[in-house]
Amino acid sequence: MITRKTQPRSQYVLVVSMMLGLLLAVFVTPLAAFEDDEGCLICHKYPMMGRVTDEGVLRSYYVMPHIFERTVHRNVPCRDCHSYIKELPHKPVKEGVTCNSECHSIKNPATGKQFSHQLIYDSYIESTHGRKKIAEGPDADKPYCINCHTNPLYNPDEGKPPSQIVDRCVICHEKREFVERWYNHTSRRIREVKRSSKEVFELCSSCHENKEMLDRHVRLAKEEDRELGKKFPIAAESYKESFHGKLTRLGFGKTASCLDCHARQKDYFRSVHEIRPSRDPESPTHISNKVETCQRCHTFADENYAALDPHPSSKQEDNLFKYYAEMIYNIVGVAVIVMLVGMSLLETIGRRRDGIAWRLSHGSTWRRKSRRGRGRVE
Ligand code: HEC
Ligand code: HEC
Ligand code: HEC
Ligand code: HEC
Ligand code: HEC
Ligand code: HEC
Ligand code: HEC
Repeated sequence: MITRKTQPRSQYVLVVSMMLGLLLAVFVTPLAAFEDDEGCLICHKYPMMGRVTDEGVLRSYYVMPHIFERTVHRNVPCRDCHSYIKELPHKPVKEGVTCNSECHSIKNPATGKQFSHQLIYDSYIESTHGRKKIAEGPDADKPYCINCHTNPLYNPDEGKPPSQIVDRCVICHEKREFVERWYNHTSRRIREVKRSSKEVFELCSSCHENKEMLDRHVRLAKEEDRELGKKFPIAAESYKESFHGKLTRLGFGKTASCLDCHARQKDYFRSVHEIRPSRDPESPTHISNKVETCQRCHTFADENYAALDPHPSSKQEDNLFKYYAEMIYNIVGVAVIVMLVGMSLLETIGRRRDGIAWRLSHGSTWRRKSRRGRGRVE
């Protein structure tokens, strides 16, 4: 779902529709496992709940209990996130849910403090993408947490954990439900649950291929006399043309995705939230870190190898050699095909005019002697 090219506003709707949406049979659905202590579903369980915004977007306010109970946030009470709702019936919403607020109901068992995503938020806000939840102007083009994170991502349907493991845990913990919950929580993180190269490409290019957005930022940066990467206007487009990009598009998962180069691999899950431009010395794409970045996969890469352009441009002004090389190859390629097809056509026409029939027998398609005695075919 992250692949859709949607503007931030409609992204909310996307997120919402993941958690919410159409509950076809309210009464046949099995009872939700999470507890609606706050009674929000008294109203929000009805499929028709929603409204059309001033921009004409249909927003659903309908929460599907059976979907919600499978999201990563299933144990978070509604109002830990929707903390602005203080009374019922509630008032209209301004800021909505911010992803760095503290949960009232959940403590971090390791630290004993109220749980929050503050750590990730701190990295994110310093990154090139950092913005406030409600952003205006150019900042509104940047991704907020919910632009990249839609609920189902981390929730492949895992089914029940293996019973021999649960059996072993319950001899002490007694409750299977407790064990199953914790088992899923940790086992998912032990397994590699990461976006594939293709998904990463689709996520980043949902913005970095948006011509209007790119032009807007190039123009603004010029006006504000602010630096932007040389490759900023062509990053996604050129990646597609690169060797890595072509392999990714063909479905080869082990080649470099945007995040293999733009995020540090040590501490990956934090670093993906800290993307910095290549002019920042802390970026793995900074000139002083490039060799190390390539070496992760290209073990013998040196300075010369790292100088190869991961964002090759075939525009005349950027790379004259590549521009002419491609042009010549294109001309030669087309010419060869045209000549091949042309020759077969001429040959076919010639043989037909000679009166040679076209019939399949004994492994040959051309029969009969030439009328004009040219003896093309035996
Ligand atoms: C008495 C019925 C009722 C209950 C109970 C209720 N809601 Fe609502 N909720 C509504 C209605 C009606 C709307 C649509 C309001 C509108 O269009 O301005 C709504 C809208 C919302 C919105 C979207 C508001 C916006 O403008 O974007 C959120 C978020 C929300 N409710 C969360 C909750 C939470 C969390 C709870 C539980 C604490 C809850 N609701 C309990 C009736 C209810
Ligand atoms: C982990 C945090 C989280 C939890 C838990 C959560 N929500 Fe939400 N909810 C969001 C986010 C994020 C949005 C997207 C809108 C926004 O950014 O404010 C949203 C959107 C909504 C909307 C639509 C609001 C709109 O403006 O379009 C409704 C209604 C809603 N939630 C109800 C609920 C109910 C009812 C529950 C409990 C069953 C619940 N939510 C639990 C984070 C949460
Ligand atoms: C020999 C008894 C025993 C077995 C078997 C056992 N546990 Fe525990 N577990 C404990 C005790 C005692 C604690 C609390 C003390 C501690 O932190 O060491 C605990 C703590 C935990 C906690 C931390 C809970 C919190 O809120 O702090 C989790 C999670 C947990 N166990 C999961 C499991 C899982 C999953 C299994 C099976 C793979 C398992 N345990 C097997 C005895 C056991
Ligand atoms: C540009 C896109 C992007 C933005 C913006 C973003 N994230 Fe992430 N996030 C990712 C990627 C990519 C991963 C790594 C996992 C994967 O490959 O999907 C990740 C991983 C995570 C994880 C680890 C999940 C797990 O189960 O191990 C958490 C938690 C998280 N992000 C929270 C946040 C929060 C909170 C924000 C906002 C402050 C945020 N993210 C903003 C892309 C993003
Ligand atoms: C929601 C849209 C959006 C998504 C998704 C997104 N970006 Fe960005 N990105 C932007 C915007 C907007 C800028 C800021 C340009 C500026 O500073 O004016 C930016 C800036 C950058 C920059 C720094 C450019 C510079 O020269 O300063 C890099 C590098 C970057 N993004 C990489 C990525 C990668 C890698 C991903 C995928 C994980 C990604 N982006 C996903 C919108 C997005
Ligand atoms: C093989 C490593 C590699 C891959 C894969 C890669 N990049 Fe880059 N990227 C770089 C390097 C190195 C630079 C700096 C190049 C320069 O300025 O000459 C860069 C520059 C950029 C810039 C310009 C801003 C800056 O930091 O200079 C953006 C935006 C960007 N990349 C986004 C992406 C996106 C989006 C993807 C995936 C579609 C991607 N990159 C894939 C290595 C990579
Ligand atoms: C995540 C792993 C990964 C990273 C990081 C990575 N590459 Fe690659 N790259 C690959 C794979 C896989 C191939 C496929 C061909 C192969 O096996 O050599 C490839 C192929 C290439 C090729 C095509 C020709 C060749 O040598 O096979 C070039 C050029 C290249 N990479 C340059 C770079 C540069 C420059 C960097 C650092 C900025 C880099 N790569 C970083 C995985 C990676």
